[in-house]
Amino acid sequence: MADAFGQMLLGGTGLEIIERDDGFLDAVKMVYFAPVAEWPAVERRALRWVRGRVLDAGVGAGRAALELQRRGRSVVGIDISPGDSVGQFDTIVMFGNNFGLFGSPSKAKRLLRRLRPLADRIVAGSNDPYATEDSAHLAYQDHNRKRGRMPGQLRLRVRYRDLIGPWFDYLIVSPDEMATILEGTEWRIHRLLQQTGSGYYVAVLE
Ligand SMILES: C[S@@+](CC[C@H](N)C(=O)[O-])C[C@H]1O[C@@H](n2cnc3c(N)ncnc32)[C@H](O)[C@@H]1O
Repeated sequence: MADAFGQMLLGGTGLEIIERDDGFLDAVKMVYFAPVAEWPAVERRALRWVRGRVLDAGVGAGRAALELQRRGRSVVGIDISPGDSVGQFDTIVMFGNNFGLFGSPSKAKRLLRRLRPLADRIVAGSNDPYATEDSAHLAYQDHNRKRGRMPGQLRLRVRYRDLIGPWFDYLIVSPDEMATILEGTEWRIHRLLQQTGSGYYVAVLE
């Protein structure tokens, strides 16, 4: 399967083209190389909650890993790779909406349980799926409810030039939904950092 995401990072167009399984196409300005001054304010605030040895899960181009290293942290970044052979961490960082990598509520529960012995804290970003009035997004959420998926469970793929990446599930949840998913795991939302004027937030899980 083509690594459309990787080639897109290398390609330097500055745009990320995402296709949803209802045919909805979006081109968004890439944040993957953004210096810390251009990050969502909520992620800058969340840096304060990152302590000790860090695992950056879904590191992408490494913007968070590099900034944390600059601040003296020891950071391991992984991308599409199992996290259970890389040792012990104090914080797992999942910036850039990466709570979404958990994919589905059942997979999220299973992976969160597996991550428990790996670290004491997870600092994870998510968009609130309900912070939209876009009729295409609201219709997609309804369609998801009807097929037994969470409203914000998106099936996406990345496109770049003639490359088409694999379909993957990206789980966008509200803070309440995140709290429900954590039930039955040892994780709890310790702190919620909200981005003003947008649905983006960062949750500190302990
Ligand atoms: C939305 S990007 C966020 C990148 C980075 N954290 C940032 O904020 O700039 C998601 C990243 O997760 C990676 N990814 C997707 N599935 C993954 C998996 N199963 N395990 C690890 N990384 C994954 C993608 O390749 C991509 O680099």
